[in-house]
Amino acid sequence: MSLLEIKGLHAHYGKSHILHGVDLDIEDGTIVSLLGRNGSGRSTLLKAMMGLVPPTSGSVQLNGEELAGKRSFDICRHGIGYVPEERLVFPNLTVGENLAMGVQTPPPGAHQWSVEEMYGYFPRLKERRDINAGYLSGGEQQMLTICRSLLGNPRLLLIDEPTEGLAPRIVEVVMEFILDIGKRGVAVMLVEQKLTIALKVAREVLVMGHGELVFRGTPDDLVQAPEIRRNWLEVA
Ligand SMILES: Nc1ncnc2c1ncn2[C@@H]1O[C@H](COP(=O)(O)OP(=O)(O)O)[C@@H](O)[C@H]1O
Ligand SMILES: [Mg+2]
Repeated sequence: MSLLEIKGLHAHYGKSHILHGVDLDIEDGTIVSLLGRNGSGRSTLLKAMMGLVPPTSGSVQLNGEELAGKRSFDICRHGIGYVPEERLVFPNLTVGENLAMGVQTPPPGAHQWSVEEMYGYFPRLKERRDINAGYLSGGEQQMLTICRSLLGNPRLLLIDEPTEGLAPRIVEVVMEFILDIGKRGVAVMLVEQKLTIALKVAREVLVMGHGELVFRGTPDDLVQAPEIRRNWLEVA
């Protein structure tokens, strides 16, 4: 059985119909990249999975348990972590306090992440542990947000465009970190605009167009499918 199974997922913003029946599944510990043009519905899919946009129909199951219709905090508790596009730090709390807010007891079988481990990955956060998070750079806030989500020990982590606006050197660090998260058995669904990164970190690639999945395959499959890239990814 897959870790995550989505069937016939529809979502609306008011009267606008955005997700048109998404079907997908993710295996335990797999990194999946979700690609697509701006406006194709990638962020909406993550939000619908998190209950931030209530699905109008369809099902989202984690380990066979239905999550569609549940509240976001409950979905979190079931083992899905979410790092939204906008970096959500508590600006008036220190880096250390921000991390402490994320710490939770893991569900059975999940890896327990520790604050020290996060500092090991990101010495920069350790150096700044007593500084208010509002003073961090965009890249540092992004790392802090990912670390805080991981401390909730998710089985599946949804990350929306983590490398957007980051310096190339930081992009490398974030990429290595995501690969490591995968190696620890946490599944990751990564929305990523940069094709090279999406292909490098993922075992599987999904392409979304107009609120539907239009391609699913390995990174290699996508490299071999110029028409998919032309029709659904490249900016005309
Ligand atoms: N809060 C919102 N209210 C109304 N429409 C929205 C809202 N957020 C996104 N949309 C629309 O939903 C569609 C999908 O957006 P989004 O999921 O953000 O795409 P992506 O993340 O792939 O760029 C777009 O047409 C966008 O304009
Ligand atoms: Mg988006």
